[in-house]
Amino acid sequence: MDSIRYSPRRFAEVLGLSARELADAEGHGFVPPSATPPQRTSYSLTDLASARKSLNRLPARRPMRKQLFLNFKGGTGKTSVSTSYAFRLAEMGHRVLVIDLDSQGHASKCLGVAGEESERTLFDAIIKKAPLEQVIVKTGMPGLDLVPSNLSMSTIDLSLMPLAAREFRLRNCLKDVESNYDFVVLDAPPSFGLLNLNALMAAQDLFVPVLADFLSFHGLKLLFETVQSLEEDLEHVLDHIFIVINAYNATYKIAKEAKEALEKHYPEFLLKQVIRQCTKFAQSSSEGIPIFAYDAESKGAQDIQSVLDEVRLRIGEPSKLKLA
Ligand SMILES: Nc1ncnc2c1ncn2[C@@H]1O[C@H](COP(=O)(O)OP(=O)(O)OP(=O)(O)O)[C@@H](O)[C@H]1O
Ligand SMILES: [Mg+2]
Repeated sequence: MDSIRYSPRRFAEVLGLSARELADAEGHGFVPPSATPPQRTSYSLTDLASARKSLNRLPARRPMRKQLFLNFKGGTGKTSVSTSYAFRLAEMGHRVLVIDLDSQGHASKCLGVAGEESERTLFDAIIKKAPLEQVIVKTGMPGLDLVPSNLSMSTIDLSLMPLAAREFRLRNCLKDVESNYDFVVLDAPPSFGLLNLNALMAAQDLFVPVLADFLSFHGLKLLFETVQSLEEDLEHVLDHIFIVINAYNATYKIAKEAKEALEKHYPEFLLKQVIRQCTKFAQSSSEGIPIFAYDAESKGAQDIQSVLDEVRLRIGEPSKLKLA
């Protein structure tokens, strides 16, 4: 992520300033001085963080909110959407921790961290009881931290099996960092097991990225049954469930039909905003650069921003879900 640069126009936009206001701020020394006076041509992620601080453009601190991206079905966009969402929150000035729960380490990769080189993963925290702070790494984006993942996570379900309070390990771990973050974004693997159960027990909000096809629709039934059994057996009630249609292509009849079916069956959970099909996701992740830094004008980035706006409105509503 160190290579990420903002154009002056985008930098002003991210800070919520006009070009003139940015020039004024620079004149008053609120933005780090230009490397090539008089006109600066690009800004780094560190410039963004320091400008936010000195211009006092930081969002209000809030109690840590834990948001899980999960679908038992593979390849629905959990990693692409969660890492882009998390990066954008950090870009907006929030303090964000991403937890990569998948031994494939894709969320780590999408955030420019080589998980396979990481000495520690969540395994150390929830099985070996290392303090979570010792497992967290920086991503290069100030305010965006990561618990990386690699193949050592692949046996975690087995290791959890004999442990006491095995469903609550992750939730308990997160208590240690409660005052350090505004958001914890968890990217789950496409499987059903104790780790994902831990993630569900830790989460307040569940995001379910789905593709607009009928297999995804079918998979949702299983997920909702699981959530319902959590409520009944473990007394954990999620605050919100957001189903978000990903990689949507309105020119496909089947996609439109699947969307209509979701609207009919899950009206209270389905987000109005869909994320359109966008090749920039694949391109940006191959470079380890989140889509907002790769191409903020892309359909993917714009749609995730709209999802974020819709979710923020919904989170404002105090509602406890009861599925039964
Ligand atoms: N909106 C989109 N438009 C086009 N391609 C997308 C979109 N979202 C994700 N993709 C692509 O789909 C593939 C799967 O995405 P991703 O890895 O995010 O899914 P996942 O649900 O995390 O997968 P897994 O279940 O393996 O963890 C990737 O190649 C990604 O680039
Ligand atoms: Mg994934």
